[in-house]
Amino acid sequence: MVKSIGNEKISCAVFISGRGTNLKSIFKYSKNKYSKINLKLVISNRRDALGVIFARDNKIDCKIINYKNTKKAEKQILNYLKRKKIKFIFLAGFMKILSKNFIKKFKNKIVNIHPSLLPNYKGLNTHMRVIANKEKFSGCTVHFVNGKIDSGKIIIQKKVKILKLDTAKSLSKKILKEENKLYPKAIKKVFS
Ligand code: GAR
Repeated sequence: MVKSIGNEKISCAVFISGRGTNLKSIFKYSKNKYSKINLKLVISNRRDALGVIFARDNKIDCKIINYKNTKKAEKQILNYLKRKKIKFIFLAGFMKILSKNFIKKFKNKIVNIHPSLLPNYKGLNTHMRVIANKEKFSGCTVHFVNGKIDSGKIIIQKKVKILKLDTAKSLSKKILKEENKLYPKAIKKVFS
């Protein structure tokens, strides 16, 4: 879907807000000899995000963005992206909504992971709603980001069976494990 030129890796950024397990799996994948990406920048809207510690421990440039004013925050992010020559963005548990204007600047160059089988269960508290509705299956989806929440073109999905005893917490744990495997597969597909 996206062509890299020769052997040159594509400079990427990962946006996070929390734990950063997906950041970790993207980073690990980027170190693979055959991967087409170079993870150059992490953006976090939270200083206390665990992912920030991971980024710093692994010497990935990491910027904390104050999101009190969205317009200013996005302007600052765009500056960092420009400085680092970032060509592609992976959202990995980033809990802020990017403006249409921002998305336009990276058209078809932003990918997100969502913990449900989209188009079902867009938005927040996915696992709680899935359990409340007594669904038999859930899963996770990696998709392109467009102007509408959790609605861009789907790249890849993984289905997960829900057991009778599953709670929102156990389901979230099970799905997160799959997410961490799915994100690198999605990246491989995007840059194939
Ligand atoms: C993941 O489950 C991801 O799908 C979800 O946040 C979690 C981040 O975990 N994202 C969303 O809900 C976005 N709407 P991580 O920080 O360990 O990667």
